[in-house]
Amino acid sequence: MTDISELRSRLRRAFERMLRYVNVPLASGMPSSFPECRDGDLTLRGLREQEIAVFSGWLRDLHLARYAFGLSLDADDSYIQGVVNDHISFLKQDRRSYVAICVNNKLIGCIYYHIRDIDGLRFGILGIFIGLEEERGRGYGTRSLDLLLGFLFGELGCSCVELDTANYNKVAQRTYEGLGFSVCADQRFYEGLPSPNDIELAPSVYYRLTKEQWQARHI
Ligand SMILES: CC(C)(COP(=O)(O)OP(=O)(O)OC[C@H]1O[C@@H](n2cnc3c(N)ncnc32)[C@H](O)[C@@H]1OP(=O)(O)O)[C@@H](O)C(=O)NCCC(=O)NCCS
Repeated sequence: MTDISELRSRLRRAFERMLRYVNVPLASGMPSSFPECRDGDLTLRGLREQEIAVFSGWLRDLHLARYAFGLSLDADDSYIQGVVNDHISFLKQDRRSYVAICVNNKLIGCIYYHIRDIDGLRFGILGIFIGLEEERGRGYGTRSLDLLLGFLFGELGCSCVELDTANYNKVAQRTYEGLGFSVCADQRFYEGLPSPNDIELAPSVYYRLTKEQWQARHI
């Protein structure tokens, strides 16, 4: 027989993970579907419903999922699988935040983004993974983030974009620093939101990039 308190506690943990990753209050300027942006062979566009299966297929690689979601090196496979399942459930309900990365029209990865207005300033937050292993290390992560940053600072009017990665994820750190992000102590994006304490995240490195810093690199 199912133990009700154990079931409740599992549901609460799943809900808290969702809160941390996906359930943030969205600014009203969040487009209902991501408008296509191009840079040569690279295109960013909204993730299509039929592509959710591809997205889910990539995340069957739990090593990729651990890195993509910055989970602790102690998190076991069933925990990682739970986080992946939460993401996929959310994605099925609301694809607004998910951007497809395509090279020559082939889907190779995904960027997840949100915007939030705090004290009259608009903040962006994002996460990325290149799902196809053979496409990593070929500059697509850097180029697609740069394209998305242009959209966040330009069309969406963000003043600042933040992101974070696990302390063990040296490739992500190099990628973000190469784009001009600087390490910071915390993330303003999540200010005032509940912070669940039993999520198995790795110690994180937080990054911030202001619009002025981004513009200075694109004169
Ligand atoms: C992190 C990630 C998005 C970077 O995108 P990418 O297309 O692979 O990276 P790029 O080719 O743009 O390279 C960016 C920098 O990382 C370096 N780099 C890329 N792959 C590397 C590797 N395997 N080892 C060492 N350095 C590497 C590049 O040399 C480049 O640095 P440089 O400009 O100083 O030379 C991608 O590797 C990925 O999806 N990884 C798995 C999931 C993940 O970690 N997501 C991030 C979660 S926060």
